[in-house]
Amino acid sequence: NAIPVLTIDGPSGSGKGTISRAVARVLGWHFLDSGALYRAVGVAAGWEDTDLSDPDALQRLAERTVVSFKDVPESEPRVLVDGADATDELRTETAGAAASAIAAIPGVRAALVERQRAFRQLPGLVADGRDMGTIIFPDAQTKVFLTASAEERAQRRYKQLIEKGVEVTLDSLLREIIARDARDAQRPVAPLKPADDAVLVDSSGVPIDQVVEQVLSLLPESL
Ligand code: C5P
Repeated sequence: NAIPVLTIDGPSGSGKGTISRAVARVLGWHFLDSGALYRAVGVAAGWEDTDLSDPDALQRLAERTVVSFKDVPESEPRVLVDGADATDELRTETAGAAASAIAAIPGVRAALVERQRAFRQLPGLVADGRDMGTIIFPDAQTKVFLTASAEERAQRRYKQLIEKGVEVTLDSLLREIIARDARDAQRPVAPLKPADDAVLVDSSGVPIDQVVEQVLSLLPESL
């Protein structure tokens, strides 16, 4: 496949979302927020009261849940789940936890593979997730594994939540982040690990625009 793909994988809070979107904007490429697909299935499971311990039911749900992205000028796109705007619900900790549990089910992951690959369209794609470089786009021309220390990721999340008026402690966030990392790294299907040919970028203490520059500098000159 000659259509260029830049994969950006890494743990939650590494700045992946912000950086991938910024890079896609600069390049004028399409953008895949793969976490939103898992979150959408998690949210749909809540709406339909699907048993989170029933892998077959969750796979069927993943197969039939329709997720679409609606671009909004100057803002993040809205995410529609079965036609309903679920953007705010998708961002909650509950949706993240449901996504993380559901993402460990092989049938759910399989149901989403082709849908993710369909985002690969001209002039190019920036794909943000956990297994973009390893499983979904193994032939991507450029692969980044973006990290930041758990402390820094907890700090960022803390700031976001406090700004939103959510009451949390830094300590509880740090513990949640460490637990989620361990779950994502140890699961048997699509564990969070860098592709062999990924470039490791550590964003701890680095301003966003510098990380964006660094990622852009990894793209082949010919693009
Ligand atoms: O990136 P985000 O925080 O939105 O992802 C939510 C959850 O979905 C993650 O904790 C992870 O378990 C799962 N996920 C995944 N594979 C992806 C993207 C997300 O397993 N490509």
